[in-house]
Amino acid sequence: MDHFQYRDGRLCAEAVPLARIAEEVGTPFYCYATATIEHHYRVFADAFAGLDPTICYAVKANSNIAVIGTLARLGAGADVVSAGELKRALAAGVAPGRIVFSGVGKTADEMAAALKAGVLQINVESEPELDVLGQVAGSLGVDAPVAIRINPDVDANTHEKITTGKSENKFGVEWTRARAVYSRAAAMPAISVVGVAVHIGSQVTDLAPFRDAYVRMRDLVAMLRADGHPIERLDLGGGLGIPYGDEVTPTPEEYAATVKSAIADLDCHIILEPGRVIVGNAGVLVTRVVHVKEGAMRTFVIVDAAMNDLLRPALYNATHAIVPVTEAAAGTELMEVDVVGPVCETADTFGTGRLLPAMKPGDLLAVRTAGAYGAVMASTYNARPLVPETLVRDATYAVVRERMSVDDMVALESFPPWLAAPDKAAREAGG
Ligand code: LLP
Repeated sequence: MDHFQYRDGRLCAEAVPLARIAEEVGTPFYCYATATIEHHYRVFADAFAGLDPTICYAVKANSNIAVIGTLARLGAGADVVSAGELKRALAAGVAPGRIVFSGVGKTADEMAAALKAGVLQINVESEPELDVLGQVAGSLGVDAPVAIRINPDVDANTHEKITTGKSENKFGVEWTRARAVYSRAAAMPAISVVGVAVHIGSQVTDLAPFRDAYVRMRDLVAMLRADGHPIERLDLGGGLGIPYGDEVTPTPEEYAATVKSAIADLDCHIILEPGRVIVGNAGVLVTRVVHVKEGAMRTFVIVDAAMNDLLRPALYNATHAIVPVTEAAAGTELMEVDVVGPVCETADTFGTGRLLPAMKPGDLLAVRTAGAYGAVMASTYNARPLVPETLVRDATYAVVRERMSVDDMVALESFPPWLAAPDKAAREAGG
């Protein structure tokens, strides 16, 4: 369910026409709908009612402070993977006691920042990391609340680049080594073992791998408790997939039923880290047609957004629906086109063989389901500044990240002493 619908032929985010934002903000831009973010959070939370979990929104999916803040006001905690995300979550008003710090390569500085902030728990992914955390916590004179992330060796049946729970993946501690690592952790003075964590991958559209991984975790928790470890929390990660087109994916209710049946009667506090399922369908990338080019074999609709703005199609061959911002009249003839960006790579393709009404320069298109892993994965490749993000609520919208300028980018750069600075005037003249 989302709130991007045509009203009188104009594609709107809630009650705001996207064409209006395009006029005022320029293109390309991201647009998020508050109502969709809130709806998805509530549906997810309601599905788990009775279990009373802590829902830690995976900030990596969309880390704009306005998005995190929208969720924080609904009671969401945060799952963060860097000092930067920690800072964003705190800035957005997430209570430190509702923040989980995950990630495979936390530095000592990041661990110290998390401990000083007083996060709920740190999910540790390896023994070397545990040693460093022990030292950092010891030197700060605090106890680090730790869950060890377990690699359950379960294939999530998703894209290989976002599979994390197989033994060949870099994530977590091999489940067969779990007992040994827990007894090591228990013997460390500044480490306080509080739980177990697992996360098998993202855009998981089949419940069976979740069930397999969670049953494995249930058995492990029982074993660890028998070993004398006080396992109070079970962090089940995120990963629930969403539809990018017409495909049918498990609902939060079905996912919750899987969780409940796998961990029933365990008496553990459950932590969940959903990202995509909350914000994925809550965002679009709006772009303007620059040229329409008749190639030898195909028609290319060249738009002003590119792979640097939305990397998913190039990186994962992801399919995002692309729709015109002005609705085609009934009976309009559709043409088969490739929608491509201006970046000098063939991978800079948003969609091939798409059926769209005849497009002309200046027309607007919306790339859908771009709320998760869109703006956060953008780069400035081809010296293209990061695009603005806007957030709609009912009939109003706000720019929640300004468009970066090329000057902003260049301002961080400088000439080394051995290169004479080109004459400033020549530079300003573009010479
Ligand atoms: N927890 C952990 C430890 C994670 O690594 C992730 C995602 C999540 C939670 C949230 O997963 P979600 O519910 O959003 O599936 N850039 C890729 C997705 C990478 C996901 C990385 N980890 C994409 O665009 O598909």
